[in-house]
Amino acid sequence: MRRILVAGNWKMHGSGAMVQVLLEGLLARAGGGEVDVAVFPPYPYLAQTRSLLRGSSISWGAQNLNPVAQGAHTGEVSAGMLLDFGCRYVLVGHSERRTLYAESDQDVADRFQAALEAGLEPVLCVGETLEERESGDTEAVVERQLEAVLSQSGIEGFARAIVAYEPVWAIGTGKTATPEQAQDVHAFIRNKFASQDDIIAGQLRILYGGSVNGSNAADLFTREDIDGGLVGGASLKVEDFLAICEAVA
Ligand code: 13P
Repeated sequence: MRRILVAGNWKMHGSGAMVQVLLEGLLARAGGGEVDVAVFPPYPYLAQTRSLLRGSSISWGAQNLNPVAQGAHTGEVSAGMLLDFGCRYVLVGHSERRTLYAESDQDVADRFQAALEAGLEPVLCVGETLEERESGDTEAVVERQLEAVLSQSGIEGFARAIVAYEPVWAIGTGKTATPEQAQDVHAFIRNKFASQDDIIAGQLRILYGGSVNGSNAADLFTREDIDGGLVGGASLKVEDFLAICEAVA
């Protein structure tokens, strides 16, 4: 049985004071129930996150990593460094990385593989733009993004990974995919994996991301192939994030 995971991607938001308030608020009420909870703070707050969340049922991860283990890569952070801060997860291929920082499908595949090799659980983000959806290319785009990773890490790589379907047009726009639209793409993703390995596909958690909030979470997360959410804006306020966690608990 796949458990629901509600994951908060804080993106480039926060301050030491905010992290304290947010995590203390989550610790008081989230985690330990029927829903798994995780947070993805910016790198500088990982140490603070670890010291607050250590020993709790709330997990944490980073928003990206460099695929190289170490070397002359000014400004970059490796998988081993993330492990030093107790990270369980790492996002790879978030659409903001793909578009604003020109990460290619191959870059994303390299990051996914480096995360796996280090023992982190990568959260592979995929999703189409509005233009791609409107021209009927949603499945082709998602397929291409998945295939880049599958051909490098194999289906076995997904035994310890998560996929997040995040339609670009729904991110930070207040425009959520309908539960039917999201379910259709999630089913497409699961079927793609199932054609290679039924068991891994059946166990794989596929999260939905894009304007998730306390009002739409229950309707999304009760769909057959939607196993939780990757939440941006609504993960930055304790009450908003808890509303999502509690909507499905
Ligand atoms: P919003 O929830 O703000 O739309 O962001 C979604 C997202 O990009 C999470 O990674």
